[in-house]
Amino acid sequence: MSNFVADDAAVALIIVTMIDVRKTFALGARTVKRVGYGAMQLAGPGVFGPPKDGQAALAVLREAVASGIDHIDTSDYYGPHITNQLICEALHPYPSDLVIVTKIGAKRGKDGSWSPAFSAEALTSAVHDNLRNLKVDVLEVVNLRIMFGVHQPTEGSIEAPLSVLADLQRQGLVRHIGLSNVTTKQVAEGRARAKIVCVQNHYNLAHRDDDTLIDELAAAGVAYVPFFPLGGFTPLQSTVLSDVAKALGATPMQVALAWMLQRAANILLIPGTSSMEHLRENLAAANLKLPNEAVTRLNRIAAGTVR
Ligand SMILES: NC(=O)c1ccc[n+]([C@@H]2O[C@H](COP(=O)([O-])OP(=O)(O)OC[C@H]3O[C@@H](n4cnc5c(N)ncnc54)[C@H](OP(=O)(O)O)[C@@H]3O)[C@@H](O)[C@H]2O)c1
Repeated sequence: MSNFVADDAAVALIIVTMIDVRKTFALGARTVKRVGYGAMQLAGPGVFGPPKDGQAALAVLREAVASGIDHIDTSDYYGPHITNQLICEALHPYPSDLVIVTKIGAKRGKDGSWSPAFSAEALTSAVHDNLRNLKVDVLEVVNLRIMFGVHQPTEGSIEAPLSVLADLQRQGLVRHIGLSNVTTKQVAEGRARAKIVCVQNHYNLAHRDDDTLIDELAAAGVAYVPFFPLGGFTPLQSTVLSDVAKALGATPMQVALAWMLQRAANILLIPGTSSMEHLRENLAAANLKLPNEAVTRLNRIAAGTVR
């Protein structure tokens, strides 16, 4: 009997060693690694039209999954359609552990402009566009991307579009619902009306409006997925960030990602890149541990006391 106890303890130890909770978090019914991949950069300039080098885009996607990435963020309005079609061409049939998260709520003009698309008809056809272009029967997670202001989160009830998405979920076309570009009030409204599995908002080392929200969602076990984790179209630049990176023998972007991994356990990263080299660099950030002094210095960037 005592042997069984010893064996059980040994198994428990092995499990604890293998499943590092700092490196995974729940996303809907799945558990994903904390470093995923954002596919937006794969479309052409301005997230419009095809990429300059389609083969390179396919290679980045295949390398991401081959390297162990199990969470890809996309939308059918990237391109439009292009990014989903690239994902499908590169990866279909998808590995069983891959979670593809998409978003609806916007449309593109002929000139590449972005505008809201929240009618029941627009949301329904966006879900069908994603299903068709990704070649799946059900979308694992769909973020309702709110666009009441132009690009900033702007107050207003999300009841109408959320109820359309909940209907599509009841029809079996969508497994889980997330929210994007939302205020704290809209997150509360959404969570009161539906099961929300993730929130995707603008957040990074220098842009920390959501600090309180992140902690609230962490306490509720809801994933927080920062968009523009590296600063987006204008990647982060800071002397402190560069100094800390130099001291650690890392790159500034790796430090920016590692800072978010240490910021809260519910943060899932989706850095976007069209470059194989940057993809590998971003993945390696998962193994970078920032000392406390470095975190303290980096925290001053958003506070505006250093640059
Ligand atoms: N919900 C929303 O409203 C929303 C809005 C925006 C984005 N998103 C999602 O969030 C994901 C991430 O955001 P994002 O791609 O816009 O911005 P990001 O990840 O903050 O930054 C991407 C930019 O950083 C560059 N980059 C990436 N890795 C780098 C590295 N190691 N060193 C130097 N530069 C690097 C990329 O250029 P290269 O291609 O040259 O590497 C690209 O210009 C998107 O892919 C998309 O899926 C969602």
